[in-house]
Amino acid sequence: MNLNQKTKVMIMGCGGMLGQAVYNRFSKECTVLATDIDLNESWLQYCDVRNLHSAFELALEFKPDLIINLAALTDLEYCEKNEEDSWLTNGLGQENICLIAKRLNIPVVYISTAGIFDGGKEYYHDFDTPNPLGLYGKSKYYGEIITQSLLDKYFIFRAGWMMGGGPKKDKKFINKIYKQIQSGVKELFVVDDKLGTPTYTVDFADSIFRIVRTDFYGLYNMVCEGSGSRYDVALEFLKCLNLEDQIKVNIVKSDYFRKEYFAPRPLSEKLINLKLRKRDILFMRDWRECLAEYSSVFRMEL
Ligand SMILES: NC(=O)c1ccc[n+]([C@@H]2O[C@H](COP(=O)([O-])OP(=O)(O)OC[C@H]3O[C@@H](n4cnc5c(N)ncnc54)[C@H](OP(=O)(O)O)[C@@H]3O)[C@@H](O)[C@H]2O)c1
Repeated sequence: MNLNQKTKVMIMGCGGMLGQAVYNRFSKECTVLATDIDLNESWLQYCDVRNLHSAFELALEFKPDLIINLAALTDLEYCEKNEEDSWLTNGLGQENICLIAKRLNIPVVYISTAGIFDGGKEYYHDFDTPNPLGLYGKSKYYGEIITQSLLDKYFIFRAGWMMGGGPKKDKKFINKIYKQIQSGVKELFVVDDKLGTPTYTVDFADSIFRIVRTDFYGLYNMVCEGSGSRYDVALEFLKCLNLEDQIKVNIVKSDYFRKEYFAPRPLSEKLINLKLRKRDILFMRDWRECLAEYSSVFRMEL
């Protein structure tokens, strides 16, 4: 599809860490209606994806050419404790978006996760069979299935360990490490028995933009190149901040955090960008290069 100032793009769940990058990328070239239930920016309008009728009303009024659904509950522990809300947000929310897109005959972008795999293998390509362990993965996998069964024109992009949004919006690993550093700790405790592929929101948003234009609909793994353990990522982050000699990183096993992080997590969530590479539409850089770029936001705050 053409993406230009006349193209209307409706983005749901745009107030989060990925939403910031997607908003920045799309609003430069298209007419964007950015929505969320958390109105943390002046450019956000309220829309709850669990509510089909109000989302429909808003969409009928805006008349989008494309919907990008980023709305999700991404806290794995919250999902385990709030089963119904997880299904309603991650599952029914995406089903609602599909019904709206079907009625308007427009494509949808849905973001899935490496967390739909069980971690029994080290690497997962696009054709591996999902087997989610926890509520988050199960509800996100439902989003994939319902999208594929209801729509012809869809993009499903599976992301890995998201990094982006900076100190204000990043809810994940990098910001959790940063907050500890900021509080003055001289040693960190980080697991080396969880493996994955970091995924930089800026590259991810740019890739969505470029791939949507191709009309090569379908399901894609989309992560940064390279992979590692949480320990590898923490070490690299400290290097980027020039703090590797000042802060010690102790390796621990996941069991160390069993009370805090009780949701089941796969041993490995490493994704391979097999389809993107083969179709020559892989625009994700290596995660170390991305982390170096991303770290500059944190360096300024230290
Ligand atoms: N973060 C990751 O590591 C990761 C990895 C793989 C895939 N993904 C996927 O990437 C997408 C974007 O996630 P993200 O990382 O940007 O997470 P995020 O920062 O939590 O952003 C999601 C946004 O959706 C909002 N939201 C929650 N329930 C909603 C509802 N019912 N209606 C409308 N908006 C709602 C959230 O608001 P609240 O803050 O109030 O909840 C938040 O602003 C999601 O589909 C997620 O599953 C994320």
